[in-house]
Amino acid sequence: MKELAPANILAIAPYVPGKPISETARELGMDEASILKMASNENPLGPSPRALAAIRGALDDLAYYPDGSGYDLKAALHRHFGLAPERLVLGNGSNDVLELVGRGFLTPADSAVYSQHAFLVYPLVVQAVGAQHIVVPARNYGTDLDALANAVRPDTKIVFLANPNNPTGTFNAWEDIGRFLERVPARVLVVIDEAYGEYLPPGLQSPTLGWLDRHPNLVVTRTLSKAYGLAGLRIGYAAAHRDVADVMNRVRQPFNVNHLALVAACAALDDGEFIAKSREMNAAGLAQLEEGVHRLGLDFIASKANFISVRVGDAARVYAGLLAQGIIVRPIAGYGLPEHLRVTVGLPEQNARFLAALQRVLGKA
Ligand SMILES: Cc1ncc(COP(=O)(O)O)c(C=O)c1O
Repeated sequence: MKELAPANILAIAPYVPGKPISETARELGMDEASILKMASNENPLGPSPRALAAIRGALDDLAYYPDGSGYDLKAALHRHFGLAPERLVLGNGSNDVLELVGRGFLTPADSAVYSQHAFLVYPLVVQAVGAQHIVVPARNYGTDLDALANAVRPDTKIVFLANPNNPTGTFNAWEDIGRFLERVPARVLVVIDEAYGEYLPPGLQSPTLGWLDRHPNLVVTRTLSKAYGLAGLRIGYAAAHRDVADVMNRVRQPFNVNHLALVAACAALDDGEFIAKSREMNAAGLAQLEEGVHRLGLDFIASKANFISVRVGDAARVYAGLLAQGIIVRPIAGYGLPEHLRVTVGLPEQNARFLAALQRVLGKA
């Protein structure tokens, strides 16, 4: 029956997620509690405590459908970021809103531009609608904004850009992104994916929401999966011009965000203390990992996110060696980085366990 599917769908290379803890424990015959997952850029502090309390209080409402308009969460986003509700699109994770941009705007006659080593959901979104890919070579693993602007063609409808990017952790200065936006024709949507934005130091926090009025072609996507610690609930959002948001909301499923996610996100947005703690812990953990891998003589890509990609050489062997010790990291050959492994920042003792295991695998113990 496969031949019934269009060629662009059959050409999709399925997204390979981080290996789950339960599967690893089963395969190794180990206790789940002894497995360390540093593979999916999750928050090692767990969920925001305020979100957890809100979820517990909402369990009795689960027989009802969620509020498909997301009224309360949009009101909370308005309070926190000054975003009018009609500018907002809520998603089952920010992957969902990225897909809504593609489904809402791209046709097979259009192209979309993104960088080499960019987050893999962009090619998936483009491929799913049968549009054309324009992949721009990276510079020092990062996004080359001039090359990205130069790659825009008359048939280009969307440019995707993550800042910081996954899996490289590379960061473009916001002033450079501002200049890039001035260069891109106003008929082209520019999607700035800020999944890791909360991890940026206070002086580098994103100014993009303030640019929405001047750039009706700008779409900013954010998630509560990373610093807010709610990856398992699936909740993200996009902010855009009301017309762009309107198109995205047309292709959205009416109940794409579940009730617990809505309730938890409202509470998590109020938990500034948790975000500050996560940011601090992450900065210390990044420094610990950088120092540790440097001591092992390994190169790494300087990261502004909650992970670091380390050049280990034979990544498949090192991945397997770490896995045998109960540590799951992420191979990123699918991102064009076959010699690197991506490691999510953990708690200090987790980072230390990873570094010790890496040292053993590399035979430097
Ligand atoms: C750059 C980037 N954007 C978006 C996402 C999507 O996250 P979610 O769908 O959990 O919001 C991720 C997750 O890994 C990511 O790395």
